[in-house]
Amino acid sequence: MSALPQNYMVIEPMQLSDLRSVSVTEEQIYDFPWTLGNFADSLSSGNSMWVMRDARGELLAYAVMLLVLDEAHLLNLGVVKTRQRHGYGANLLMHLFEIAKNSGAIRMFLEVRPSNEAGRALYRKFGFNQIGRRPGYYPAHDGREDALILACDI
Ligand SMILES: CC(C)(COP(=O)(O)OP(=O)(O)OC[C@H]1O[C@@H](n2cnc3c(N)ncnc32)[C@H](O)[C@@H]1OP(=O)(O)O)[C@@H](O)C(=O)NCCC(=O)NCCS
Repeated sequence: MSALPQNYMVIEPMQLSDLRSVSVTEEQIYDFPWTLGNFADSLSSGNSMWVMRDARGELLAYAVMLLVLDEAHLLNLGVVKTRQRHGYGANLLMHLFEIAKNSGAIRMFLEVRPSNEAGRALYRKFGFNQIGRRPGYYPAHDGREDALILACDI
């Protein structure tokens, strides 16, 4: 029997049974996380939701995308804290581009906090550009924080 390579990963549609591990991770990586109920609502509304797992079936990353006509909106992308900076976020984002393209989307949009340097660097690397700003969009520890609106042609 051959062992799976150390960097083995699989991307699968998110299921109800994933929600607990996804929301535990969400709480570890965001100061203002989605609740388990937010993920459940998103799943039942038919969003494009994905999990990435390692060879042991452990969660590595997850993503939520809304597909409407020729637009894709990336609503959430998270990588397990201890597994960050190993290319999983980039890999999952590439998968989302593929799914979006196959569904007929020609542009992907997302919102990101100006303070989120890791997120902004990832999206810059993929060619996202800032197309707008929503003042006070996010809760923050000292009040509110703007959202940068980014877009990328697919
Ligand atoms: C943002 C996030 C999804 C990136 O996932 P990741 O798997 O750690 O990132 P990757 O290893 O795929 O990195 C891809 C590129 O993104 C950029 N990047 C990722 N993390 C970075 C960091 N901490 N600092 C600077 N650049 C970073 C780099 O350009 C990197 O390429 P490089 O490694 O060749 O330099 C992850 O940090 C995360 O889950 N953060 C918390 C949740 C979050 O903020 N999500 C985005 C919300 S909009």
